[in-house]
Amino acid sequence: MYLKIILISVLLITTNNYVNCDDINNDECKLRNPCSCEFWDGYGFDLNAIIQSGEEAYEILVKENITYLFNPCSDIKHVPMLINVTENTCSPKGYTLCLQNKTVPEYLLMGNTGEASFKSSADRKLTFLVYTHHDNSNNSTIVSSFELICTPNSDKHFIYPTPATLQLDNQLNFLIFSPLACRVMIDDFSGPSVFTAMLILFLVAVLTYFSIGIVVNFMYLGARGIEVIPHLEFWKSVPKLIREGIRFIRNGCRKVPEPDSYDAI
Ligand SMILES: *[C@@H]1O[C@H](CO)[C@@H](O)[C@H](O)[C@H]1NC(C)=O
Ligand SMILES: *[C@@H]1O[C@H](CO)[C@@H](O)[C@H](O)[C@H]1NC(C)=O
Ligand SMILES: *[C@@H]1O[C@H](CO)[C@@H](O)[C@H](O)[C@H]1NC(C)=O
Ligand SMILES: *[C@@H]1O[C@H](CO)[C@@H](O)[C@H](O)[C@H]1NC(C)=O
Ligand SMILES: *[C@@H]1O[C@H](CO)[C@@H](O)[C@H](O)[C@H]1NC(C)=O
Repeated sequence: MYLKIILISVLLITTNNYVNCDDINNDECKLRNPCSCEFWDGYGFDLNAIIQSGEEAYEILVKENITYLFNPCSDIKHVPMLINVTENTCSPKGYTLCLQNKTVPEYLLMGNTGEASFKSSADRKLTFLVYTHHDNSNNSTIVSSFELICTPNSDKHFIYPTPATLQLDNQLNFLIFSPLACRVMIDDFSGPSVFTAMLILFLVAVLTYFSIGIVVNFMYLGARGIEVIPHLEFWKSVPKLIREGIRFIRNGCRKVPEPDSYDAI
């Protein structure tokens, strides 16, 4: 009886490490690197190939004299050459998003890798790459957001400003049309990872437990047939526990009111 309680607790604690209820109810695409993110189920976005080799940054033309330079994956310092640039806040620190104003002319920093985050709507239908840039010189915050629009049958990337951005205030909105803006499997479990190592340790532990249990039952307790399996009654109840566990998680981690739930055991 006590053993059963302990085993159930261990089962719940170990599954809780992998299935965090907060993650499910509050699922965000967590940043893996500045241009890639992952939901708790291993799916996510990877924009790593969006800047073609040989290119420094994607140039988004907004209107005459106004261009945004964009390179989401790393901070770059290179800006196109202009004569008599009065101000350049992009190159010293490095940028992922930089405003080129040819009228002045100047380069103004709008975001870098440290200011990147991914935000999704609750139903996961919309995902945005967002830069929240704080400008210390005039104590203002500029938020730039790129909506990811999946175009699976294209091999090209297009980035456009939304009509609202053309008015230019402190909120800039862009649209990324790209096959890279499609949700893909990020974590394929093929490479060595903490998860794989834990899985191997777990399998070794299970194997050891059954070997020792079977030897003890067979040699010392004289069990034969299916009876040699240690804690047989508990293992018979495992499929039901797993079914209940899955129902529990599907239900948003709330207990399912049902006569044969844990309370009834
Ligand atoms: C750049 O600045 C210099 C000195 O301020 C000026 O003589 C020159 O005409 C400027 N060049 C352009 C293209 O504005
Ligand atoms: C570009 O510079 C001109 C001249 O200073 C200014 O009027 C305009 O608002 C600037 N545009 C942007 C997008 O900052
Ligand atoms: C673009 O920049 C040039 C050079 O500074 C300037 O003469 C022109 O008026 C600008 N155009 C607009 C729309 O600001
Ligand atoms: C703050 O300064 C940045 C550039 O230095 C400029 O783009 C922005 O419009 C300014 N914001 C306000 C509210 O003045
Ligand atoms: C910057 O703005 C925040 C709130 O908008 C304010 O609390 C803070 O005192 C300001 N800092 C400076 C240096 O103006």
